[in-house]
Amino acid sequence: MTEQVLRGRVLSFRRRPEGPSDLAACDWFEDGAVHIRDGMIVATGDFAAIAPAGIPVTDHRPHLITAGFIDAHIHFPQGEIVASWGAQLMDWLNTYTFPAETRFADPVHAARIATTFFDLLLMNGTTTASAFCSVHPESVDAYFSEAGARGLRMLGGKVLMDRNAPEALRDTPQSAYDDSAALIGRWHGRGRASYVISPRFAITSTPEQMEAAQALIAAHPDLHVQTHLSENDAEIAFACALYPQAQGYLDIYDRYGMLGPKSLLGHSIHLSDAERDRIAETGAHAVHCPTSNLFLGSGLFDETALHARGATCGIATDIGAGMSWSMLRTAGAAYAVAQLQNHKLDPLTGFWWITRGNADVLGMTDRIGTLEAGTEADLVVLDSRATPELALRMTAAQDLKDELFALMILGDDRAVVETYANGRAVKPASPPAGQAGRPVTGPL
Ligand code: GUN
Ligand code: ZN
Repeated sequence: MTEQVLRGRVLSFRRRPEGPSDLAACDWFEDGAVHIRDGMIVATGDFAAIAPAGIPVTDHRPHLITAGFIDAHIHFPQGEIVASWGAQLMDWLNTYTFPAETRFADPVHAARIATTFFDLLLMNGTTTASAFCSVHPESVDAYFSEAGARGLRMLGGKVLMDRNAPEALRDTPQSAYDDSAALIGRWHGRGRASYVISPRFAITSTPEQMEAAQALIAAHPDLHVQTHLSENDAEIAFACALYPQAQGYLDIYDRYGMLGPKSLLGHSIHLSDAERDRIAETGAHAVHCPTSNLFLGSGLFDETALHARGATCGIATDIGAGMSWSMLRTAGAAYAVAQLQNHKLDPLTGFWWITRGNADVLGMTDRIGTLEAGTEADLVVLDSRATPELALRMTAAQDLKDELFALMILGDDRAVVETYANGRAVKPASPPAGQAGRPVTGPL
């Protein structure tokens, strides 16, 4: 049995805050403690009240301790193409994304990138993510092997894609079904792994493959399903042209039984009111990818309109279209996107969203996303004075709200002091080694 106490300024959420001053939504302990036994949280509270004598204490004061961050939509094979210039969605996929994903047929490459991928997540305080792997089963093996070796709660799956992509990235309806079924058998529920059925988007799947995805979902109703929806005008027109019988883009997925409480619909920007109502009615989750939507010029996600209808939305980096691996930066970008629509994302809600909010979306609040007793000890320790600009801002901070907002706007991996997964300190000791590659040469 291993037992420890983490001491610090402890913040956890009981529910979504109703505004910037709704501290009743939080558990907040200025001199707090998280008591951990065998990777599980035994108790969280005031240090003086809950820390048992004789148990080793790691004193993180004056830093903040919160639940580890959760990224509800990320692409495992796209780390290398973050910051690829000059294209909107469809050109960006064809020019940068598909060539990068092609390399994941090679298990050596996939394993090498998996090391860097999880280094980067943990450096940024992200302890759970839902990832699209490439079409190749080897990429899923690399992803879950590395996550398992580090004791991480991760979700992911191979993308299904049998058209409108290079030959080397195409499967078939049958192989997509068979490979996914084999991967589910190999990985789902093994350690902390959850398999996600992942039809990439309507454009890269034939109706026959959508039927195969539907059959997979029916055979595995406990699994999550992730895809992309209504990200970009040209994409929407193309998808609707490929499925002329559907009433709109969302209806394509609806017809194939893909909408329900386990469904994660990346982007979901350009929606009609009827589509928002249908998302809420089915319990599906739109996932906001703010830095990606800005980067690709895709549009402004309207969380307020979805929330008003009772839909619960996720939030995510969407690496490699995303501009940052940091969920702090992602929450900061969501603030800016809300501003452009005359809405306000307050800092309490921002921190709730990247922790408990995303756990709610994944249906995993009983395991992750909070510091409640009985949940898994996935935590992040944050230094609100980690950089000169944060330190300067903190000289004028009046309260916790100001501190959280400074972290949301100015914070990134430099603010992450430590990351714990299952009670173990897992932040990489040094920045991930760069991938050995050719020097950049040639004309400017
Ligand atoms: N739509 C289909 N595939 C992708 C992808 O890899 N990234 C983004 N941003 N949108 C997509
Ligand atoms: Zn995506």
